[in-house]
Amino acid sequence: MRLPDGLPADIDLTRPSAARVYDYVLGGAHNFEIDRQLAEQIAAMTPNLAETMRAGRAFLRRGVRTLVGAGIDQFLDIGSGIPTVGNVHEVAQQANPAARIVYVDIDPVAVAHSRSILAGNERTTVLHADLREPDRILAEAEKLGAIDFGRPVAVLLAGVVHFVPDSDDPQRILATLRAATVPGSYLLLSHSTHEDQPREMLDAQRLSARTATEITLRSRAEIAAFFGDFTLLEPGLVHMPLWRPDEPTDPGEHPERLGAFGGVGRHDRGAG
Ligand SMILES: C[S@@+](CC[C@H](N)C(=O)[O-])C[C@H]1O[C@@H](n2cnc3c(N)ncnc32)[C@H](O)[C@@H]1O
Repeated sequence: MRLPDGLPADIDLTRPSAARVYDYVLGGAHNFEIDRQLAEQIAAMTPNLAETMRAGRAFLRRGVRTLVGAGIDQFLDIGSGIPTVGNVHEVAQQANPAARIVYVDIDPVAVAHSRSILAGNERTTVLHADLREPDRILAEAEKLGAIDFGRPVAVLLAGVVHFVPDSDDPQRILATLRAATVPGSYLLLSHSTHEDQPREMLDAQRLSARTATEITLRSRAEIAAFFGDFTLLEPGLVHMPLWRPDEPTDPGEHPERLGAFGGVGRHDRGAG
């Protein structure tokens, strides 16, 4: 693979990266042999892996469409990965060309690719930052003039909070992000779970320890707590395919097999 211009010299190519494993499984070209090997290993143990990742992107797209429909025109997408086909800016800007998106990722390769893919799109900004430092993300997004926190914003956390272990206090991180938003803002979140899952899912979690960040599977109640006192939109926090499917038959017979819950919460007056 050709390295994109501006790729930092200090990236660790001896360890697989979650963003590049994800990119490979989604059919992207922004990954290395080490990522492909781990992806194949995980996929051999969890046949639903590619489907889960595609379902994650599809949930994100349905959520963003809903948010644009609710009048949101600024998005803070943390743990955005590599913005390949059908990503947030495409969905949002198709519905509202004035929509602004800030993509944030911890992976320098994802960030470098995002910058090259988005060059020329003046309403997108890419930050190299860590979700575990939410104050820094909020300050930078504001300083760059990319997000106006005096107006409603959507914070997107799709498939990323499970990379934050309990020891890094994800509830504190979520509380900081929620508190930065004004009423009328939204939080979209999807998160892997051990609920209703077979043994293979737990084995795949063990393998994820080989990427720079290990996955922490959480219960539905723990994931629901990330929304604080935001009001969950219908149908609530559900297995991802069940969240406002395009067609009633889309979720299939076993939506729980994808192993992740998704939901969208709204900041109503008095919440925070
Ligand atoms: C499974 S991908 C999800 C990509 C995208 N949000 C989606 O739903 O299609 C998770 C992304 O989170 C990033 N990530 C993991 N830990 C992070 C952290 N602490 N801060 C920011 N990004 C992180 C990874 O680099 C990866 O790109």
